[in-house]
Amino acid sequence: MAERLVNLPGMSAVEELIRSKFESDSSSLQEIPEYLFALGGKRMRPMLTLLSAAALGMRTPSPRLIEIAAGIELIHMATLLHDDIIDKSPIRRHKQSAFLKYGVPNTLLAGDFLLVRAFSLCARLDRHIIDATEQACVELTEGEIEEIPLFRAHLNVTEVLEIARKKTAALFRLAAESAAFLAVGKEPVLNCFLEFGEKLGVAFQILDDVLDVISTEDLLGKKAGQDLLERKPSVVNVLWLESGSELSKRLLTEPQLEGEDLFVAKALAELRHGETIQRARALAIKYAREAESALDAGLAQAPNKDKAYSTALYALIRYTTERLE
Ligand code: FPP
Ligand code: MG
Repeated sequence: MAERLVNLPGMSAVEELIRSKFESDSSSLQEIPEYLFALGGKRMRPMLTLLSAAALGMRTPSPRLIEIAAGIELIHMATLLHDDIIDKSPIRRHKQSAFLKYGVPNTLLAGDFLLVRAFSLCARLDRHIIDATEQACVELTEGEIEEIPLFRAHLNVTEVLEIARKKTAALFRLAAESAAFLAVGKEPVLNCFLEFGEKLGVAFQILDDVLDVISTEDLLGKKAGQDLLERKPSVVNVLWLESGSELSKRLLTEPQLEGEDLFVAKALAELRHGETIQRARALAIKYAREAESALDAGLAQAPNKDKAYSTALYALIRYTTERLE
């Protein structure tokens, strides 16, 4: 995945544009986004934007494509700054979270700043994409606010999949839809790509929930079991509760327990050997297959396409369900 990232035409232009948007008279507003950006990350959303347009026959990434890819990543960065404050997550990608390093007020403001910077890029496109950007941001916020800890509310699998659709898949959807808008500009391709992006995003989020349990601190860039500690309504946690496990009820439906670390260690052991992870993985694969079908349909109806890049898009779907980080 990393090699494709480096070689993908347009990625360095997207990164350059993103960095140029950090410029501010206030040193904190500049430093916090630079810190987050330097932590790296998979750049999934710009990759999806650039690959989708290329697969649909856009030979050279247009300035508008670079702008929307950068805009979407800036929105994503804003949500990460805010999300770590909300989740009280101390670590992101092996480093201190921005709010611990720079404080909550400045980090909140840096998120606001990035959001405004993003809108200046997304708003250069047609009304259709401006509306789609608004819709994605509304859904991000709804998804985050609906993510009530399991000790406060019981959520079922359908409800948490809807949260995943909103908090994560909304931006994937916007990325694929905007690319199709710029490369083709009309139905039915637009709708197929919108669907492809959304299903891919849900599969990605389910795998994120799975990795929180099965992966290692080295690969995750933070301790495993964070979703357990936060009593987060992740797909894994909700499936685990629904399995009837006694341990899941004790751990997840209480805000805090004595000997919390021991409980989390026990939970990780139970989950790693039980069927919950397999169920969650099966759900991720189901969404990945749906993403594949939507991509098949979109490409079949596209006036132009590029085989090398459509192959890379299918590889991106596979990566989403097989990744380890
Ligand atoms: C990460 O989830 C969080 C999101 C994908 C959405 C965050 C949304 C907001 C903070 C709403 C604010 C919206 C805007 C437009 C600024 P996670 O906690 O499961 O992932 P993590 O493990 O990477 O923290
Ligand atoms: Mg979080």
